[in-house]
Amino acid sequence: MAVTGDTLGSSGKDLPINLSTEKALEETMLSPRFYTTDFAAIDRISIEGVREEWDKLMSEFEVDSNIDHFQRPKDMQENYSKISPEVHDEFVDFLISSITSEFSGCVLYAEIKKRVKNEDMKKLFGYMARDESRHAGFINQWLKDFNIGVDLSFLTKAKKYTFFKPKFIFYATYLSEKIGYARYISIYRQVERHPEFRFHPIFLWFEKWCNDEFRHGEAFALLMRSDPPLLKGVNLLWIKFFLLAVFATMFVRDHKRPKLHKALNLSPTEYDMQVFEITTEISKQVFPVLIDIKNPDFLKNLKKLSYLNEQLEQCTTKGLFSIRRLVLFVKLGVCFAKLFFMKSLVNKLPEDFRVKPSW
Ligand SMILES: [Fe+2]
Ligand SMILES: [Fe+2]
Repeated sequence: MAVTGDTLGSSGKDLPINLSTEKALEETMLSPRFYTTDFAAIDRISIEGVREEWDKLMSEFEVDSNIDHFQRPKDMQENYSKISPEVHDEFVDFLISSITSEFSGCVLYAEIKKRVKNEDMKKLFGYMARDESRHAGFINQWLKDFNIGVDLSFLTKAKKYTFFKPKFIFYATYLSEKIGYARYISIYRQVERHPEFRFHPIFLWFEKWCNDEFRHGEAFALLMRSDPPLLKGVNLLWIKFFLLAVFATMFVRDHKRPKLHKALNLSPTEYDMQVFEITTEISKQVFPVLIDIKNPDFLKNLKKLSYLNEQLEQCTTKGLFSIRRLVLFVKLGVCFAKLFFMKSLVNKLPEDFRVKPSW
């Protein structure tokens, strides 16, 4: 599958793409990144230890239960950009950040599929690129109401790529798929219970959408369980680091969108804690260490991170030599270190490790 703007439904021709594409191009601590990896190492992966589970998962991908899901129906062709001005900017920011991370997955998976010969890997990454391409294309369909188009083919060429060894890709991507599931299902349950807060139709798609993300996460769980050294020794520290990095990024980012959460009648803190709870529960399938999210220091330090980040963004003096910025960076580092040195929970990995999306 070629990953181009056209495949993804981004015309990029008639729309004023610059600002939104620029936003998607942003490289900040919080913005979604694009990744590349060691393709030869992926090629050498053997999943024979989990073959039975693997084949079952591949047949789930093959069934492609969401094949018709990501279409904007004929009766929803009107312009849905007329949402209250307070929510408008944060919602657009949410959509752009979502499309960037969907597309980031798509580019990485498609590239792996293209660069490896290992049939198992080719098949898996092909399926996942297919799904992420649909997700990104679907968000672009709704962004057009706002007269916005993120030029995905331009983004592929212009965005900086971060190199991660396969094991880091597995930890990070497993978590972003599972947390993606937890985020989508939590929002969906909220608008299902309270349709009066469903201010945009896209939330209706989240229920089936999140099952794709869940399945992608299952694939990474299998890849990690098929290679036990990835889940031992010094790697436990890496797992803890990635868990915290993913949780902290989400917490800080969500707390920058108070109006969006208010419109959904969600408190960002409660919503985030619920998402962390779901993600922690799911990740018992694969991670021998977990974050003790019930420890009061966890939330206390996340709030502090969010506050410090706000201060950093308000800092008018830019540049490397601003003392104020330097002090804030040090404080952010100390705060993250406090989170890292919190006692983690030990988890005994279950024999039967497949999990069902039951939230
Ligand atoms: Fe996705
Ligand atoms: Fe995904």
